[in-house]
Amino acid sequence: MNRLTAYLGLAAVAVVAVLVVNNLRDIGPGPTLATKPEVAVKGRPKIGGPFTLVNQDGKTVTDADYRGRYMLLYFGYTFCPDVCPTFLGIVGEALDILGDKAEPIVPIFVSVDPERDTPAHLKEYVVNFHPTMVGLTGSMEQVYEVARQYRVYFSKVMQQGADPDGYLMDHTSITYLMGPDGKFVSHFAHGTTAETMAKRLADLLPS
Ligand code: NI
Repeated sequence: MNRLTAYLGLAAVAVVAVLVVNNLRDIGPGPTLATKPEVAVKGRPKIGGPFTLVNQDGKTVTDADYRGRYMLLYFGYTFCPDVCPTFLGIVGEALDILGDKAEPIVPIFVSVDPERDTPAHLKEYVVNFHPTMVGLTGSMEQVYEVARQYRVYFSKVMQQGADPDGYLMDHTSITYLMGPDGKFVSHFAHGTTAETMAKRLADLLPS
């Protein structure tokens, strides 16, 4: 019995050792280990993954529904006073500049505020920025999961003495371009102009 226990213990240690070695290999060597674990092997950041959300028509959708097209994803919330509408305006303008060339792109606005962003509310909102723009929301769990996959941070900011429903959301402002295979292609930082975005998108899309 004691020997069996010892064997099992050794086996467990071996499994842990293999897992640790595999993890280190995944992250890669060097000084980036502690600061940039998101930079993956082959130079492609580990951004994205499966999601299940609800679109502006109240229909359940998954990432697989957009396979074969380029997802241009932005995370935010419709009550955002400035950053979200500004950036979504830039996305819409960039798509207008591209014209027919934008056809393979699906612009997607993912809400990080599902409590207030109902599908109906999103439907009224996204149409202001581009006729093809999709609005996605879901349960709190679904939104947490997609944010985790895309490494998007968000947090509710309550204001002292203000209407409890009038809260703000602190959130990452970044746009991701995901390829027809659902994998990360590029990102656009906050402050990108519509012209720059259109040019980079044109360069990234197959001609
Ligand atoms: Ni915002």
